[in-house]
Amino acid sequence: MRMPLVVGNWKMNTNVEQAVGLAKEVSDLTHAIDQVTKVICPPYVSLEPIKKALAGTKLHVGAQNLHPEPSGAFTGEVSVHMLSGLVEFAIVGHSERRNIFGESDDTVASKVIAAAAHKIRPIVCVGESTNQRDSGNAIDLVKQQLFASLNGCQDWTRLIVAYEPLWAIGTDKAASPEIAQEMMGSIRKAIVSKAGSRAGEALTLLYGGSVKSGNARSFFEQQDIDGALVGGSSLSAVEFSEIIKRAEHVD
Ligand code: 13P
Repeated sequence: MRMPLVVGNWKMNTNVEQAVGLAKEVSDLTHAIDQVTKVICPPYVSLEPIKKALAGTKLHVGAQNLHPEPSGAFTGEVSVHMLSGLVEFAIVGHSERRNIFGESDDTVASKVIAAAAHKIRPIVCVGESTNQRDSGNAIDLVKQQLFASLNGCQDWTRLIVAYEPLWAIGTDKAASPEIAQEMMGSIRKAIVSKAGSRAGEALTLLYGGSVKSGNARSFFEQQDIDGALVGGSSLSAVEFSEIIKRAEHVD
């Protein structure tokens, strides 16, 4: 059985003081929930203070991105080596990284490999645009994007994939649970074909895009959905905690 996983992506929000406060609040509100893996991904500058503030708790910390090289002349970047030991998870290939900062599938693939090499579990984001969905070809396109983003990946058993359709991110228009399940069932099948049934069973699949406490459970009840990658709603400790609670005891 896969443990449910709920990840909060804070994006470029909160200063250090606010971030530490929010992290503590989430930790307090969810400390009794131990059947869900709980992760927050704050901005880089808050990782270390939050890690200290959360010592001894069951709330994990992840990064929103990483640079695959250990060090070098990459002004403004934070390397996988710097994050090693500080975070257990890292989001890679978020659609905002792909679309605003021009990250290619090749770049994402290099980050997946680098993360795994540093014992950081990559949360690989994929998803189609509105036009791609309207073309009727979304499933094939997302599978292509996923395998290109996993090019060279060796460790298939620690993989986390987040399906985040672009039209559902920050829009209040979440995908229907049926659409999400259809996509994520296809992703799991494709991983089984590529890497075997053990990899398919181990694969943790998250849905992302306008997840709230009101709709979270309808996603968690789907056969191939193991949790959520939450943006806006993870900035409220109460709302995020409620989403985490919805992931408990799902048959
Ligand atoms: P929202 O939950 O705000 O739609 O954002 C989703 C997302 O991009 C998480 O990575």
